[in-house]
Amino acid sequence: MEQTKKLFSEKPSSYWRNSTDMPTYPALEKDLDTDVLVIGAGIAGITTAYELTKRGRSVVLIEGRELISGTTGYTTSKLTAQHDIIYHGLIERYGEETAKQYFHANLQAINYVKDTAAEHGIDCEFEEQEAYIYTQLDEGVETIEKEVEAYRKLQIDGYMADTMPLDIPIKAAAVMRQQAQFHPVKYLIGLLKEIELRGGSIYEQTLAVSFDTDSRPVVHTENGHTITANHVVSATHFPVQVENQYFSSNMNPKNSYGIAIKSKKPYPEGMYISLESPKRSIRSLKKGDDHYVLVGGESHVTGDGSSVLDRYERIYQFAEEQFGVEELYEHWSSHDLLTTDQLPFVGKVSDEAPGIYTATGFGKWGLSNGVAAATLLADLIEGKDNEFADLYKIGREMEEAEAVSMGEDDVKRISNETVVKPDDLPNGKGAILEKNGQTMAYYRDEKGELHEMSASCTHNGCPVSWNNADHTWDCSCHGSRFTAVGEVVEGPALRALDRD
Ligand SMILES: Cc1cc2nc3c(=O)[nH]c(=O)nc-3n(C[C@H](O)[C@H](O)[C@H](O)COP(=O)(O)OP(=O)(O)OC[C@H]3O[C@@H](n4cnc5c(N)ncnc54)[C@H](O)[C@@H]3O)c2cc1C
Ligand code: FES
Repeated sequence: MEQTKKLFSEKPSSYWRNSTDMPTYPALEKDLDTDVLVIGAGIAGITTAYELTKRGRSVVLIEGRELISGTTGYTTSKLTAQHDIIYHGLIERYGEETAKQYFHANLQAINYVKDTAAEHGIDCEFEEQEAYIYTQLDEGVETIEKEVEAYRKLQIDGYMADTMPLDIPIKAAAVMRQQAQFHPVKYLIGLLKEIELRGGSIYEQTLAVSFDTDSRPVVHTENGHTITANHVVSATHFPVQVENQYFSSNMNPKNSYGIAIKSKKPYPEGMYISLESPKRSIRSLKKGDDHYVLVGGESHVTGDGSSVLDRYERIYQFAEEQFGVEELYEHWSSHDLLTTDQLPFVGKVSDEAPGIYTATGFGKWGLSNGVAAATLLADLIEGKDNEFADLYKIGREMEEAEAVSMGEDDVKRISNETVVKPDDLPNGKGAILEKNGQTMAYYRDEKGELHEMSASCTHNGCPVSWNNADHTWDCSCHGSRFTAVGEVVEGPALRALDRD
């Protein structure tokens, strides 16, 4: 236990990025004028840029940090239309037609990735697999039955099972045939090359910090340049620099965790996810003849102050019991944005900002939804009809996302309660403490130097909390994350935590 705690205290790193030679691109060093500007190089942004260059449009893609360093670089990478339990609920809420559309949007996205990888000879480890969602409880069987009944109504190729190839005792499972898994970073690097071949320009370390939308949109970058465009796609995960009240009210950020292990037992076919919480999401990884397995789960509201170290531990324990861990290879975490009706938001941001588009709220299923979003955005930009435009429409009426309460009690909870003053803070640890009536974030680095910062997120002022495994400050409102010393790791925040 102590040994794994130590391993999980080490800096997390992405299996996907570490198993790929990452290309580098320059930062923007001049002003530009283009037809389409895509901001954000995750799956949504890169696929949109690829699709539009393929259609002959002039495209600039900018990334604020490194390519594929957002959620797409830290995913589980199942490419499936089995998005947990969803179809029964969609039929109840929106009817069979909408539920069927959602399935088809995602099925088409799987085929898009398969065909695109084949067309350009991208070796992205694409493998067809059956997708299982299983329950281990009698109470879960009815939910599985309803979902399988929804598959039948929607003519989804699937079935109900009472055993699985993976040796986990279950009560029931819903199975979807012909789903897939792949290596997202290898695939997207293949697309980046195709974007360049078709005349697209790509820039890293080019953070978009503000928009002028009075006439043709103009985007200002942190390094002092402007990009003027006819169309701007904000594919920045949480949309940046667009009116955000609608998105703030209707989405919550949730974190999950992944570990890649070398397994003692052979891995059968299939991709798996548990119905019950804590979630367990399981798939194989391709690494020569060895059995590598990715186990993910432990979803929770970002920045809720719970011990992240314990979450990694619990996933590890599950992997140990299930597979026998020969080697812990990587561990990582990231968050995604969940809407209240499980459908993403894709399209024109609002009538007040013509020419500005976004794609967000993928609900932890953005690899297929992000690809569906890209073709939809390309059609909208070209003024073409798209059968999925209403499905993903921004502005549809929503039940408000449950607000994440961060009152006084929560601030106590997210503080390290054993620490009452900065002097007590051990090296390598962070804590939220009060100073003159203000909530401050304190971190003592490994050399013993104390860092004092405001605990208010620089996006919209929500309190941040200490993540004891990744050593970051995490914001529960829209998912911004900051390093232990307050620098932005991930937006929508654009500025470091304030210091006096
Ligand atoms: C642990 C975990 C497991 C998951 N597993 C699966 C799965 O198995 N299957 C599935 O379908 N989905 C899965 N998902 C969800 C999926 O990974 C995400 O929905 C998807 O990757 C989001 O892609 P994106 O392009 O919208 O965002 P991102 O990948 O986050 O890309 C956004 C990019 O925009 C950049 N950016 C942000 N702000 C700016 C700015 N101001 N200027 C310039 N650039 C900026 C960021 O640096 C980032 O690179 C999982 C999610 C999590 C958290
Ligand atoms: S991410 Fe929006 S307030 Fe912190």
